[in-house]
Amino acid sequence: MDFELTPEQREIQALARDFAQAEIDPHAAEWDREQRFPSELYPKLGALGLMGVCVPDQYGGAGADFVSYILVLEELARADAGVGVTVAVHTSAVALPILRFGTDEQRARFVPPLARGESIGAFALTEPESGSDAGSLRSAATLETGGWHISGSKRFITSARQAGTFLLFARTDPATSNAGGVSAFVLDGAHVEVTRDEEKLGLHSSTTSDVVVDAVVDEGRLLHQEGKGFAVAMATLDGGRIGIAAQAVGIARAAFEAARDYALERKQFGKRLAEFQAIQHKLADMSMEIDAARLLVLRAAWLKQEGLPHAEEGAKAKLFASEVARRQTAEAIQVFGGYGYTKEYPVERYYRDAKITEIYEGTSEIQRLVIARSILGLRRQALASG
Ligand code: CAA
Repeated sequence: MDFELTPEQREIQALARDFAQAEIDPHAAEWDREQRFPSELYPKLGALGLMGVCVPDQYGGAGADFVSYILVLEELARADAGVGVTVAVHTSAVALPILRFGTDEQRARFVPPLARGESIGAFALTEPESGSDAGSLRSAATLETGGWHISGSKRFITSARQAGTFLLFARTDPATSNAGGVSAFVLDGAHVEVTRDEEKLGLHSSTTSDVVVDAVVDEGRLLHQEGKGFAVAMATLDGGRIGIAAQAVGIARAAFEAARDYALERKQFGKRLAEFQAIQHKLADMSMEIDAARLLVLRAAWLKQEGLPHAEEGAKAKLFASEVARRQTAEAIQVFGGYGYTKEYPVERYYRDAKITEIYEGTSEIQRLVIARSILGLRRQALASG
């Protein structure tokens, strides 16, 4: 057992931290207020290798390990949770599954523009009628002369408005209505039309949109085997959830650091807030819970990096880290008192941004289901049968 990061991991962590402090943190409040996707940021992240941290260099990435990538996500999310999710979805949910499930030709065709940050990735699984029950999706793909005809609509698609590459799931076997008969496809931004943007509680520097697709694409865009797309989606989410957990740790850490600094400065009743035991206990709990969440995240990341099973551990990391983020961002507001409820300080943004980590890439209820199936050996038991 070794809890030390390697010199390379520390170097990438420091690179991401310095970049986030200089280029993200000073603008995060403004992007939130203006609900602006910071397009100018992603070429810079790409130039530093941070749009493909754990993508091998032969495919345009930085060639670092998965733990390094997770450390980068915490740093980006600490500065701005919207940037964190954009990079998380782009990497974990698009570039990595293409690397894992793609042919050599597909890897060479689709991954380098993603890893270099020239194309942003979007993951299109969810539909208006198919959220937690992802296997019930209705978008359809039929093989015609000329290729696959893909049609349908998707909802809550992160970065759809900016994305140049979509990993999109559609039903190739019309006789099915559940997880069987779903296939995965790699589409370009031009194949997809964005029809509506969500107005959200938080995460304002990230976009979330409805899309429709009605396009014929070449056969080389089917990822993995026909009818095996649901397994691609599930395996992708097993890893993706570790990234969202790291995002949650980043948000919670931002809230803790703000609350700690404020408590050391603000005086009431003639002494600093940090000298009151009630505030000390809040800060102690925050620090402990963030440490515990990070350890769960790093364990899951290490398992994935080593090629070991990590679905249960990733679900535990996301479940715990997202609940810590929601709870401790609220406590940070409490430390700030009335000021924390205003836009003068960033803690209200952290509170709004934290909530989504309990919902996307599988709600907390779905994480508990994934964990329960694993610890009880019931993974394949159909939900419908209870
Ligand atoms: N890895 C590989 N294959 C898996 C798997 C895994 N972790 N989990 C299940 N499968 C396979 C099963 O083996 C089975 O395949 P076979 O029949 O060929 O053996 C098939 O998938 C169906 O499995 P289940 O019977 O377990 O499927 P289910 O319908 O009961 O659903 C679920 C399982 C866990 C509830 C799943 O639907 C789920 O994860 N739902 C949540 C969806 C979700 O997380 N959405 C996130 C949207 S993306 C997003 O949020 C991105 C963003 O913007 C940030």
